[in-house]
Amino acid sequence: MGAVQLTAAVAFVCLLLPDTAAQNLIKNPREQKTEHSLLINEINADNPGLDTWEFLELYHTSGHQAALDGYYLVFYNGNGNQAYKVLNLQGHVTNSQGFFLVGSHTVNPLPSLTLRPNTIQNGPDAIALYYGNGRYFEGIKVTNNGLVDALVHKSKKADKADTLLSVLTPDQDAFLEDPLFRSTDESLERCRGSDLQWFFQVAMPTPGRDNHCIPSSQLNASTVLISEISTVSTSEGLEFIELQGPPSTTLGDLVLVLIEGGAKEVYFFMDVYGKTSPDGVLLIGPAQSKTPVDLQFPQNASSPLFRAGPNAVALYLGNSSSFSLGTAASATNLLDALVYTSNRSTAPELLEILTPGRPIFYEDERHQQGDVSVSRCSCCSVTRDASAYALSSPTPGQFNDCPSKRFSQAISFCLHGADCQQWSPGSNEIQRVLAHSLDAQCNCGVSAVYFKGKVYLYWQWCSGLG
Ligand SMILES: *[C@@H]1O[C@H](CO)[C@@H](O)[C@H](O)[C@H]1NC(C)=O
Ligand SMILES: *[C@@H]1O[C@H](CO)[C@@H](O)[C@H](O)[C@H]1NC(C)=O
Ligand SMILES: *[C@@H]1O[C@H](CO)[C@@H](O)[C@H](O)[C@H]1NC(C)=O
Ligand SMILES: *[C@@H]1O[C@H](CO)[C@@H](O)[C@H](O)[C@H]1NC(C)=O
Repeated sequence: MGAVQLTAAVAFVCLLLPDTAAQNLIKNPREQKTEHSLLINEINADNPGLDTWEFLELYHTSGHQAALDGYYLVFYNGNGNQAYKVLNLQGHVTNSQGFFLVGSHTVNPLPSLTLRPNTIQNGPDAIALYYGNGRYFEGIKVTNNGLVDALVHKSKKADKADTLLSVLTPDQDAFLEDPLFRSTDESLERCRGSDLQWFFQVAMPTPGRDNHCIPSSQLNASTVLISEISTVSTSEGLEFIELQGPPSTTLGDLVLVLIEGGAKEVYFFMDVYGKTSPDGVLLIGPAQSKTPVDLQFPQNASSPLFRAGPNAVALYLGNSSSFSLGTAASATNLLDALVYTSNRSTAPELLEILTPGRPIFYEDERHQQGDVSVSRCSCCSVTRDASAYALSSPTPGQFNDCPSKRFSQAISFCLHGADCQQWSPGSNEIQRVLAHSLDAQCNCGVSAVYFKGKVYLYWQWCSGLG
Protein backbone atom coordinates (compact mmCIF):
# COMPACT_ATOMS: atom_id res chain seq x y z
CA MET A 1 0.00 0.00 0.00
CA GLY A 2 1.22 3.50 -0.75
CA ALA A 3 1.27 6.38 1.72
CA VAL A 4 -2.12 6.90 3.27
CA GLN A 5 -3.38 10.42 2.80
CA LEU A 6 -4.48 12.43 5.78
CA THR A 7 -7.92 12.99 4.47
CA ALA A 8 -10.45 10.26 4.16
CA ALA A 9 -14.01 10.02 3.06
CA VAL A 10 -16.82 8.49 5.04
CA ALA A 11 -19.57 6.90 3.06
CA PHE A 12 -22.96 6.54 4.69
CA VAL A 13 -25.24 3.94 3.30
CA CYS A 14 -28.19 1.99 4.48
CA LEU A 15 -27.65 -1.72 4.42
CA LEU A 16 -30.40 -4.31 4.25
CA LEU A 17 -29.40 -7.39 6.13
CA PRO A 18 -30.62 -10.91 6.57
CA ASP A 19 -31.17 -11.82 10.22
CA THR A 20 -27.88 -13.60 10.78
CA ALA A 21 -25.76 -10.99 9.06
CA ALA A 22 -27.45 -8.29 11.12
CA GLN A 23 -26.40 -10.07 14.28
CA ASN A 24 -22.88 -10.83 13.14
CA LEU A 25 -21.98 -7.69 11.33
CA ILE A 26 -23.42 -4.79 13.26
CA LYS A 27 -22.35 -5.01 16.86
CA ASN A 28 -23.38 -1.55 18.03
CA PRO A 29 -26.45 -0.49 16.09
CA ARG A 30 -27.24 3.13 16.66
CA GLU A 31 -30.66 3.64 18.19
CA GLN A 32 -33.02 4.80 15.47
CA LYS A 33 -35.20 7.71 16.47
CA THR A 34 -38.18 6.87 14.35
CA GLU A 35 -41.76 6.82 15.55
CA HIS A 36 -43.11 3.34 15.26
CA SER A 37 -46.66 2.30 14.77
CA LEU A 38 -48.89 -0.73 14.70
CA LEU A 39 -50.37 -1.62 11.31
CA ILE A 40 -52.78 -4.09 9.80
CA ASN A 41 -50.24 -5.87 7.63
CA GLU A 42 -52.02 -8.77 5.99
CA ILE A 43 -55.44 -10.33 5.89
CA ASN A 44 -56.73 -13.59 4.51
CA ALA A 45 -60.50 -13.42 4.95
CA ASP A 46 -61.58 -15.74 2.17
CA ASN A 47 -60.21 -19.25 1.57
CA PRO A 48 -61.13 -21.62 -1.25
CA GLY A 49 -63.99 -23.76 0.05
CA LEU A 50 -64.62 -23.45 3.79
CA ASP A 51 -62.86 -20.58 5.55
CA THR A 52 -60.73 -22.64 7.91
CA TRP A 53 -57.44 -20.91 7.22
CA GLU A 54 -58.25 -17.29 7.92
CA PHE A 55 -55.86 -14.87 9.52
CA LEU A 56 -55.14 -11.26 10.25
CA GLU A 57 -51.57 -10.12 10.80
CA LEU A 58 -50.58 -6.99 12.68
CA TYR A 59 -47.09 -5.60 12.39
CA HIS A 60 -45.28 -3.22 14.71
CA THR A 61 -42.94 -1.14 12.56
CA SER A 62 -40.15 -1.33 15.17
CA GLY A 63 -39.68 -4.93 14.01
CA HIS A 64 -39.39 -5.93 17.68
CA GLN A 65 -41.63 -7.15 20.48
CA ALA A 66 -44.22 -4.51 21.38
CA ALA A 67 -47.03 -4.51 23.94
CA LEU A 68 -50.55 -4.32 22.53
CA ASP A 69 -52.24 -3.02 25.68
CA GLY A 70 -54.95 -0.53 24.82
CA TYR A 71 -55.45 -1.78 21.27
CA TYR A 72 -58.72 -3.20 19.95
CA LEU A 73 -59.47 -4.98 16.68
CA VAL A 74 -62.97 -4.36 15.44
CA PHE A 75 -64.53 -6.27 12.53
CA TYR A 76 -67.37 -4.43 10.77
CA ASN A 77 -70.09 -5.83 8.59
CA GLY A 78 -70.58 -3.77 5.42
CA ASN A 79 -74.24 -4.66 5.60
CA GLY A 80 -75.44 -2.37 8.42
CA ASN A 81 -71.96 -0.96 9.22
CA GLN A 82 -71.90 -2.41 12.71
CA ALA A 83 -69.20 -4.35 14.56
CA TYR A 84 -69.66 -8.13 14.34
CA LYS A 85 -66.58 -8.97 16.38
CA VAL A 86 -64.33 -7.06 18.80
CA LEU A 87 -61.00 -8.33 20.12
CA ASN A 88 -59.34 -6.64 23.08
CA LEU A 89 -55.58 -7.02 22.69
CA GLN A 90 -54.83 -6.16 26.33
CA GLY A 91 -52.01 -8.32 27.68
CA HIS A 92 -50.83 -9.43 24.24
CA VAL A 93 -47.48 -8.65 22.61
CA THR A 94 -46.11 -8.90 19.10
CA ASN A 95 -43.40 -11.49 18.54
CA SER A 96 -39.70 -10.59 18.49
CA GLN A 97 -40.01 -9.54 14.85
CA GLY A 98 -43.02 -7.29 15.38
CA PHE A 99 -45.71 -9.66 14.07
CA PHE A 100 -48.98 -10.58 15.80
CA LEU A 101 -51.32 -13.14 14.30
CA VAL A 102 -55.03 -13.63 14.87
CA GLY A 103 -56.64 -16.52 13.00
CA SER A 104 -57.66 -20.15 12.59
CA HIS A 105 -55.80 -22.80 14.58
CA THR A 106 -54.68 -24.44 11.31
CA VAL A 107 -52.53 -21.43 10.35
CA ASN A 108 -48.78 -21.91 10.69
CA PRO A 109 -47.29 -20.29 12.76
CA LEU A 110 -50.13 -20.75 15.26
CA PRO A 111 -51.90 -17.41 15.83
CA SER A 112 -51.61 -15.84 19.31
CA LEU A 113 -55.38 -15.39 19.28
CA THR A 114 -57.30 -18.17 17.59
CA LEU A 115 -60.61 -17.68 15.80
CA ARG A 116 -63.32 -20.22 15.03
CA PRO A 117 -63.67 -21.20 11.35
CA ASN A 118 -65.44 -18.65 9.20
CA THR A 119 -65.11 -15.80 11.73
CA ILE A 120 -63.72 -13.16 9.38
CA GLN A 121 -66.39 -12.28 6.86
CA ASN A 122 -65.43 -12.07 3.20
CA GLY A 123 -66.73 -8.61 2.55
CA PRO A 124 -67.68 -6.02 1.72
CA ASP A 125 -66.52 -5.52 5.30
CA ALA A 126 -63.84 -3.74 7.28
CA ILE A 127 -61.26 -4.43 9.91
CA ALA A 128 -60.22 -1.51 12.09
CA LEU A 129 -57.52 -1.13 14.72
CA TYR A 130 -58.20 1.28 17.58
CA TYR A 131 -56.30 2.55 20.55
CA GLY A 132 -58.51 3.71 23.36
CA ASN A 133 -60.25 2.96 26.60
CA GLY A 134 -62.67 0.25 25.70
CA ARG A 135 -65.54 2.00 23.98
CA TYR A 136 -65.50 -0.73 21.37
CA PHE A 137 -68.04 -3.55 21.59
CA GLU A 138 -70.03 -5.80 19.27
CA GLY A 139 -72.90 -3.96 17.64
CA ILE A 140 -71.35 -0.47 17.67
CA LYS A 141 -71.79 1.69 14.62
CA VAL A 142 -68.64 2.26 12.60
CA THR A 143 -66.53 5.06 14.09
CA ASN A 144 -63.18 6.72 13.52
CA ASN A 145 -62.82 7.63 17.19
CA GLY A 146 -59.41 6.30 18.31
CA LEU A 147 -58.78 4.83 14.87
CA VAL A 148 -55.17 3.74 14.25
CA ASP A 149 -55.48 1.79 11.00
CA ALA A 150 -58.19 0.23 8.86
CA LEU A 151 -58.76 -1.92 5.83
CA VAL A 152 -62.02 -2.11 3.89
CA HIS A 153 -62.02 -5.36 1.93
CA LYS A 154 -64.23 -7.30 -0.44
CA SER A 155 -64.08 -10.49 -2.48
CA LYS A 156 -66.30 -9.44 -5.36
CA LYS A 157 -65.46 -6.56 -7.62
CA ALA A 158 -68.99 -5.17 -7.67
CA ASP A 159 -69.29 -5.08 -3.86
CA LYS A 160 -69.88 -1.64 -2.34
CA ALA A 161 -68.92 -0.42 1.11
CA ASP A 162 -69.46 3.33 0.89
CA THR A 163 -70.22 4.03 4.55
CA LEU A 164 -67.30 1.97 5.86
CA LEU A 165 -65.00 3.69 3.37
CA SER A 166 -66.18 7.20 4.18
CA VAL A 167 -65.67 6.70 7.93
CA LEU A 168 -62.55 4.52 8.00
CA THR A 169 -60.52 5.16 4.86
CA PRO A 170 -61.85 8.21 3.04
CA ASP A 171 -60.41 8.74 -0.46
CA GLN A 172 -59.61 5.05 -0.78
CA ASP A 173 -61.36 2.25 -2.55
CA ALA A 174 -62.16 -1.10 -0.94
CA PHE A 175 -59.38 -3.62 -1.56
CA LEU A 176 -60.37 -6.71 -3.50
CA GLU A 177 -59.14 -10.12 -2.35
CA ASP A 178 -59.53 -11.43 -5.87
CA PRO A 179 -60.23 -15.19 -5.63
CA LEU A 180 -59.11 -15.59 -9.24
CA PHE A 181 -55.61 -14.29 -8.50
CA ARG A 182 -54.23 -17.69 -7.52
CA SER A 183 -55.77 -21.10 -8.07
CA THR A 184 -54.87 -21.84 -4.45
CA ASP A 185 -55.30 -19.26 -1.67
CA GLU A 186 -54.40 -15.57 -1.66
CA SER A 187 -54.37 -12.74 0.86
CA LEU A 188 -54.30 -8.96 0.93
CA GLU A 189 -50.82 -7.73 1.83
CA ARG A 190 -49.75 -4.24 2.81
CA CYS A 191 -47.04 -2.88 0.55
CA ARG A 192 -45.43 0.49 0.10
CA GLY A 193 -45.72 2.10 -3.32
CA SER A 194 -43.00 4.06 -5.07
CA ASP A 195 -44.66 7.23 -3.73
CA LEU A 196 -44.15 5.79 -0.19
CA GLN A 197 -47.93 5.46 0.23
CA TRP A 198 -49.23 2.22 1.69
CA PHE A 199 -51.58 0.08 -0.33
CA PHE A 200 -52.82 -3.51 -0.21
CA GLN A 201 -52.16 -5.96 -2.99
CA VAL A 202 -53.32 -9.51 -3.61
CA ALA A 203 -50.50 -11.97 -3.07
CA MET A 204 -49.46 -15.37 -1.82
CA PRO A 205 -50.29 -15.58 1.93
CA THR A 206 -47.27 -15.10 4.23
CA PRO A 207 -48.58 -15.29 7.84
CA GLY A 208 -45.97 -14.23 10.40
CA ARG A 209 -43.47 -13.33 7.70
CA ASP A 210 -42.56 -10.33 5.57
CA ASN A 211 -44.97 -9.61 2.78
CA HIS A 212 -43.69 -10.37 -0.67
CA CYS A 213 -44.36 -7.03 -2.24
CA ILE A 214 -43.94 -7.21 -5.99
CA PRO A 215 -45.12 -3.99 -7.59
CA SER A 216 -48.22 -4.65 -9.64
CA SER A 217 -46.35 -3.39 -12.68
CA GLN A 218 -44.29 -6.55 -12.46
CA LEU A 219 -47.27 -8.76 -11.84
CA ASN A 220 -48.60 -7.59 -15.16
CA ALA A 221 -45.28 -7.57 -16.97
CA SER A 222 -45.07 -10.05 -19.76
CA THR A 223 -41.29 -10.27 -19.49
CA VAL A 224 -39.66 -13.43 -18.28
CA LEU A 225 -36.59 -12.99 -16.10
CA ILE A 226 -33.88 -15.18 -14.61
CA SER A 227 -35.01 -15.41 -10.99
CA GLU A 228 -32.62 -17.81 -9.29
CA ILE A 229 -29.80 -20.18 -10.16
CA SER A 230 -28.07 -22.87 -8.18
CA THR A 231 -24.90 -23.88 -9.99
CA VAL A 232 -23.61 -26.55 -7.64
CA SER A 233 -24.88 -30.06 -7.18
CA THR A 234 -24.48 -31.48 -3.67
CA SER A 235 -26.25 -33.90 -1.37
CA GLU A 236 -28.28 -30.91 -0.12
CA GLY A 237 -29.66 -30.02 -3.50
CA LEU A 238 -29.22 -30.15 -7.22
CA GLU A 239 -28.53 -27.56 -9.86
CA PHE A 240 -31.52 -25.57 -11.04
CA ILE A 241 -32.56 -22.49 -12.95
CA GLU A 242 -35.73 -20.66 -11.96
CA LEU A 243 -37.47 -18.15 -14.19
CA GLN A 244 -39.97 -15.51 -13.09
CA GLY A 245 -42.80 -14.49 -15.40
CA PRO A 246 -46.44 -13.50 -15.13
CA PRO A 247 -48.47 -15.86 -12.86
CA SER A 248 -50.19 -18.97 -14.25
CA THR A 249 -49.11 -18.21 -17.79
CA THR A 250 -48.01 -20.55 -20.56
CA LEU A 251 -44.50 -19.73 -21.68
CA GLY A 252 -42.94 -20.56 -25.01
CA ASP A 253 -40.68 -19.12 -27.68
CA LEU A 254 -37.84 -18.89 -25.17
CA VAL A 255 -34.37 -20.44 -25.18
CA LEU A 256 -32.21 -20.96 -22.12
CA VAL A 257 -28.51 -20.79 -22.94
CA LEU A 258 -25.34 -21.39 -20.91
CA ILE A 259 -22.24 -19.58 -22.12
CA GLU A 260 -18.63 -20.25 -21.21
CA GLY A 261 -16.89 -17.04 -20.12
CA GLY A 262 -13.41 -17.48 -21.53
CA ALA A 263 -14.33 -18.65 -25.00
CA LYS A 264 -17.64 -16.68 -25.00
CA GLU A 265 -19.27 -19.71 -26.60
CA VAL A 266 -22.57 -21.48 -26.06
CA TYR A 267 -22.06 -24.82 -24.30
CA PHE A 268 -25.69 -25.68 -23.55
CA PHE A 269 -29.11 -24.58 -24.79
CA MET A 270 -32.67 -25.77 -24.48
CA ASP A 271 -36.15 -24.61 -25.46
CA VAL A 272 -38.22 -23.31 -22.56
CA TYR A 273 -41.94 -24.00 -22.39
CA GLY A 274 -44.48 -24.75 -19.69
CA LYS A 275 -46.86 -22.97 -17.36
CA THR A 276 -45.68 -20.67 -14.60
CA SER A 277 -46.92 -21.29 -11.06
CA PRO A 278 -49.58 -19.05 -9.45
CA ASP A 279 -46.57 -17.01 -8.24
CA GLY A 280 -45.13 -16.71 -11.74
CA VAL A 281 -42.27 -19.15 -11.24
CA LEU A 282 -41.05 -21.80 -13.71
CA LEU A 283 -38.47 -24.24 -12.36
CA ILE A 284 -36.01 -25.97 -14.69
CA GLY A 285 -33.82 -28.74 -13.31
CA PRO A 286 -32.80 -32.38 -13.44
CA ALA A 287 -35.43 -35.13 -13.47
CA GLN A 288 -34.26 -36.46 -10.07
CA SER A 289 -34.74 -33.09 -8.33
CA LYS A 290 -36.38 -33.28 -4.87
CA THR A 291 -38.52 -30.23 -5.65
CA PRO A 292 -40.64 -31.21 -8.67
CA VAL A 293 -39.45 -29.27 -11.71
CA ASP A 294 -41.72 -27.75 -14.35
CA LEU A 295 -39.26 -28.50 -17.12
CA GLN A 296 -36.46 -31.07 -17.07
CA PHE A 297 -32.93 -30.64 -18.31
CA PRO A 298 -32.56 -32.72 -21.50
CA GLN A 299 -31.63 -36.40 -20.98
CA ASN A 300 -28.25 -35.97 -22.63
CA ALA A 301 -27.31 -32.81 -20.67
CA SER A 302 -23.97 -33.20 -18.92
CA SER A 303 -24.04 -33.51 -15.14
CA PRO A 304 -23.00 -31.29 -13.47
CA LEU A 305 -24.38 -28.90 -16.03
CA PHE A 306 -22.75 -25.69 -14.83
CA ARG A 307 -19.05 -25.23 -15.43
CA ALA A 308 -16.48 -23.68 -13.09
CA GLY A 309 -15.06 -20.20 -13.62
CA PRO A 310 -16.77 -17.22 -15.19
CA ASN A 311 -19.90 -18.19 -17.12
CA ALA A 312 -23.31 -16.85 -18.06
CA VAL A 313 -26.92 -17.95 -17.96
CA ALA A 314 -28.89 -16.22 -20.70
CA LEU A 315 -32.50 -16.21 -21.78
CA TYR A 316 -33.35 -15.47 -25.41
CA LEU A 317 -36.52 -14.98 -27.34
CA GLY A 318 -36.90 -17.54 -30.11
CA ASN A 319 -36.27 -21.25 -30.42
CA SER A 320 -33.27 -23.52 -30.24
CA SER A 321 -32.93 -23.79 -34.03
CA SER A 322 -31.01 -20.48 -33.87
CA PHE A 323 -28.34 -22.00 -31.56
CA SER A 324 -25.69 -24.66 -31.82
CA LEU A 325 -22.88 -25.72 -29.53
CA GLY A 326 -19.96 -23.33 -29.90
CA THR A 327 -22.09 -20.41 -31.19
CA ALA A 328 -20.52 -17.09 -30.19
CA ALA A 329 -22.32 -15.18 -27.39
CA SER A 330 -24.61 -12.48 -28.73
CA ALA A 331 -27.14 -9.95 -27.49
CA THR A 332 -29.59 -10.50 -30.34
CA ASN A 333 -33.06 -11.33 -28.93
CA LEU A 334 -31.54 -11.42 -25.42
CA LEU A 335 -34.17 -10.98 -22.67
CA ASP A 336 -32.04 -11.41 -19.57
CA ALA A 337 -28.56 -12.57 -18.64
CA LEU A 338 -26.62 -13.24 -15.48
CA VAL A 339 -22.83 -13.34 -15.74
CA TYR A 340 -21.27 -14.93 -12.67
CA THR A 341 -18.01 -16.46 -11.59
CA SER A 342 -17.40 -19.41 -9.31
CA ASN A 343 -13.69 -18.64 -8.91
CA ARG A 344 -12.45 -15.04 -8.85
CA SER A 345 -11.72 -14.90 -12.59
CA THR A 346 -13.83 -12.44 -14.53
CA ALA A 347 -14.94 -12.36 -18.14
CA PRO A 348 -14.83 -8.71 -19.29
CA GLU A 349 -15.58 -9.48 -22.93
CA LEU A 350 -18.58 -11.64 -22.13
CA LEU A 351 -19.87 -8.95 -19.74
CA GLU A 352 -19.54 -6.36 -22.48
CA ILE A 353 -21.62 -8.47 -24.84
CA LEU A 354 -24.37 -9.63 -22.47
CA THR A 355 -24.58 -6.99 -19.73
CA PRO A 356 -22.60 -3.94 -20.88
CA GLY A 357 -21.48 -1.67 -18.06
CA ARG A 358 -22.71 -4.04 -15.37
CA PRO A 359 -20.64 -6.12 -12.94
CA ILE A 360 -20.02 -9.83 -12.71
CA PHE A 361 -21.64 -11.75 -9.85
CA TYR A 362 -19.18 -13.36 -7.43
CA GLU A 363 -20.23 -16.64 -5.93
CA ASP A 364 -18.33 -17.50 -2.76
CA GLU A 365 -17.04 -20.55 -0.91
CA ARG A 366 -20.40 -21.16 0.74
CA HIS A 367 -21.78 -21.45 -2.72
CA GLN A 368 -19.38 -24.22 -3.58
CA GLN A 369 -20.85 -26.19 -0.66
CA GLY A 370 -24.25 -25.88 -2.32
CA ASP A 371 -26.21 -24.29 0.52
CA VAL A 372 -26.71 -20.96 -1.20
CA SER A 373 -28.09 -19.91 -4.55
CA VAL A 374 -27.98 -16.71 -6.56
CA SER A 375 -31.36 -14.99 -6.23
CA ARG A 376 -32.87 -11.99 -7.97
CA CYS A 377 -33.69 -9.52 -5.21
CA SER A 378 -34.09 -6.21 -6.94
CA CYS A 379 -37.42 -6.00 -8.49
CA CYS A 380 -38.86 -5.74 -11.82
CA SER A 381 -37.67 -3.80 -14.76
CA VAL A 382 -34.00 -4.48 -14.04
CA THR A 383 -32.67 -6.98 -16.58
CA ARG A 384 -29.19 -7.99 -17.66
CA ASP A 385 -27.65 -6.73 -14.43
CA ALA A 386 -25.89 -9.00 -11.91
CA SER A 387 -26.16 -6.36 -9.20
CA ALA A 388 -29.87 -7.25 -8.95
CA TYR A 389 -28.89 -10.58 -7.36
CA ALA A 390 -27.87 -11.72 -3.89
CA LEU A 391 -26.62 -14.94 -2.39
CA SER A 392 -29.40 -16.52 -0.35
CA SER A 393 -30.89 -19.82 0.76
CA PRO A 394 -32.09 -21.87 -2.20
CA THR A 395 -35.85 -21.54 -2.74
CA PRO A 396 -36.51 -23.57 -5.92
CA GLY A 397 -40.06 -23.00 -7.17
CA GLN A 398 -40.79 -20.38 -4.53
CA PHE A 399 -40.28 -16.69 -3.96
CA ASN A 400 -36.66 -15.81 -3.32
CA ASP A 401 -35.28 -15.32 0.14
CA CYS A 402 -34.01 -11.75 -0.06
CA PRO A 403 -32.39 -9.25 2.32
CA SER A 404 -35.10 -7.82 4.53
CA LYS A 405 -35.77 -4.14 5.15
CA ARG A 406 -36.69 -5.02 8.70
CA PHE A 407 -33.07 -5.56 9.63
CA SER A 408 -31.69 -2.52 7.85
CA GLN A 409 -28.97 -0.45 9.46
CA ALA A 410 -27.32 2.80 8.53
CA ILE A 411 -23.61 2.13 8.31
CA SER A 412 -20.60 4.27 7.63
CA PHE A 413 -17.37 3.30 6.00
CA CYS A 414 -14.11 5.13 6.39
CA LEU A 415 -12.30 5.07 3.09
CA HIS A 416 -8.66 5.54 4.00
CA GLY A 417 -6.58 7.20 1.39
CA ALA A 418 -9.41 7.75 -1.02
CA ASP A 419 -9.03 10.88 -3.07
CA CYS A 420 -12.68 11.58 -3.63
CA GLN A 421 -11.99 14.56 -5.83
CA GLN A 422 -10.57 12.20 -8.39
CA TRP A 423 -13.02 9.48 -7.61
CA SER A 424 -16.27 10.41 -9.22
CA PRO A 425 -18.02 7.13 -9.79
CA GLY A 426 -21.79 6.85 -9.67
CA SER A 427 -23.55 5.68 -6.55
CA ASN A 428 -23.93 2.21 -8.08
CA GLU A 429 -20.23 1.91 -8.59
CA ILE A 430 -19.52 2.92 -4.98
CA GLN A 431 -22.10 0.43 -3.69
CA ARG A 432 -20.50 -2.30 -5.70
CA VAL A 433 -17.00 -1.53 -4.41
CA LEU A 434 -18.24 -1.24 -0.82
CA ALA A 435 -20.23 -4.46 -1.06
CA HIS A 436 -17.27 -6.27 -2.44
CA SER A 437 -14.86 -5.06 0.23
CA LEU A 438 -17.40 -5.62 3.01
CA ASP A 439 -17.95 -9.16 1.82
CA ALA A 440 -14.22 -9.77 1.68
CA GLN A 441 -14.16 -8.95 5.42
CA CYS A 442 -17.31 -10.65 6.70
CA ASN A 443 -17.63 -13.40 4.09
CA CYS A 444 -21.36 -13.12 4.71
CA GLY A 445 -22.51 -12.87 1.12
CA VAL A 446 -23.19 -9.13 0.97
CA SER A 447 -23.75 -7.89 -2.56
CA ALA A 448 -24.88 -4.57 -4.01
CA VAL A 449 -28.62 -5.31 -3.64
CA TYR A 450 -28.11 -5.13 0.11
CA PHE A 451 -27.67 -1.39 -0.18
CA LYS A 452 -30.76 0.71 -0.05
CA GLY A 453 -30.87 4.22 -1.36
CA LYS A 454 -27.94 6.42 -2.24
CA VAL A 455 -24.42 6.44 -0.89
CA TYR A 456 -23.41 9.78 0.59
CA LEU A 457 -19.80 10.81 0.68
CA TYR A 458 -18.54 13.23 3.32
CA TRP A 459 -15.10 14.52 4.09
CA GLN A 460 -14.20 13.82 7.65
CA TRP A 461 -11.32 12.85 9.89
CA CYS A 462 -11.83 9.28 10.84
CA SER A 463 -8.63 8.18 12.53
CA GLY A 464 -9.25 5.44 15.01
CA LEU A 465 -11.92 3.82 12.91
CA GLY A 466 -11.08 0.45 11.37
C1 LIG B 1 -52.81 -5.22 -14.11
O1 LIG B 1 -53.80 -6.03 -14.69
C2 LIG B 1 -55.08 -5.89 -14.12
C3 LIG B 1 -56.01 -6.91 -14.73
O2 LIG B 1 -55.61 -7.30 -16.01
C4 LIG B 1 -55.56 -4.44 -14.33
O3 LIG B 1 -56.81 -4.26 -13.75
C5 LIG B 1 -54.55 -3.51 -13.67
O4 LIG B 1 -54.90 -2.16 -13.93
C6 LIG B 1 -53.16 -3.75 -14.23
N1 LIG B 1 -52.20 -2.96 -13.46
C7 LIG B 1 -51.19 -2.29 -14.05
C8 LIG B 1 -50.31 -1.53 -13.13
O5 LIG B 1 -51.00 -2.29 -15.24
C1 LIG C 1 -28.96 -33.84 -27.05
O1 LIG C 1 -29.86 -34.48 -27.90
C2 LIG C 1 -30.50 -33.62 -28.86
C3 LIG C 1 -31.45 -34.44 -29.69
O2 LIG C 1 -32.22 -35.27 -28.87
C4 LIG C 1 -29.45 -32.95 -29.75
O3 LIG C 1 -30.10 -32.04 -30.62
C5 LIG C 1 -28.46 -32.21 -28.88
O4 LIG C 1 -27.41 -31.69 -29.68
C6 LIG C 1 -27.86 -33.14 -27.83
N1 LIG C 1 -27.01 -32.36 -26.95
C7 LIG C 1 -25.83 -32.75 -26.55
C8 LIG C 1 -25.12 -31.84 -25.60
O5 LIG C 1 -25.33 -33.79 -26.93
C1 LIG D 1 -11.35 -20.22 -13.02
O1 LIG D 1 -11.89 -21.26 -13.81
C2 LIG D 1 -11.57 -21.17 -15.20
C3 LIG D 1 -12.31 -22.28 -15.92
O2 LIG D 1 -12.15 -23.51 -15.28
C4 LIG D 1 -10.06 -21.27 -15.39
O3 LIG D 1 -9.74 -21.13 -16.75
C5 LIG D 1 -9.39 -20.17 -14.58
O4 LIG D 1 -7.99 -20.29 -14.66
C6 LIG D 1 -9.83 -20.23 -13.11
N1 LIG D 1 -9.29 -19.08 -12.40
C7 LIG D 1 -8.79 -19.15 -11.16
C8 LIG D 1 -8.33 -17.85 -10.56
O5 LIG D 1 -8.74 -20.19 -10.54
C1 LIG E 1 -37.88 -21.51 -34.89
O1 LIG E 1 -37.61 -20.18 -35.30
C2 LIG E 1 -37.49 -20.01 -36.70
C3 LIG E 1 -37.14 -18.55 -36.94
O2 LIG E 1 -36.05 -18.17 -36.19
C4 LIG E 1 -38.76 -20.43 -37.40
O3 LIG E 1 -38.58 -20.33 -38.81
C5 LIG E 1 -39.14 -21.83 -37.02
O4 LIG E 1 -40.40 -22.17 -37.55
C6 LIG E 1 -39.19 -22.00 -35.51
N1 LIG E 1 -39.42 -23.39 -35.16
C7 LIG E 1 -40.35 -23.75 -34.29
C8 LIG E 1 -40.44 -25.23 -34.04
O5 LIG E 1 -41.09 -22.97 -33.74
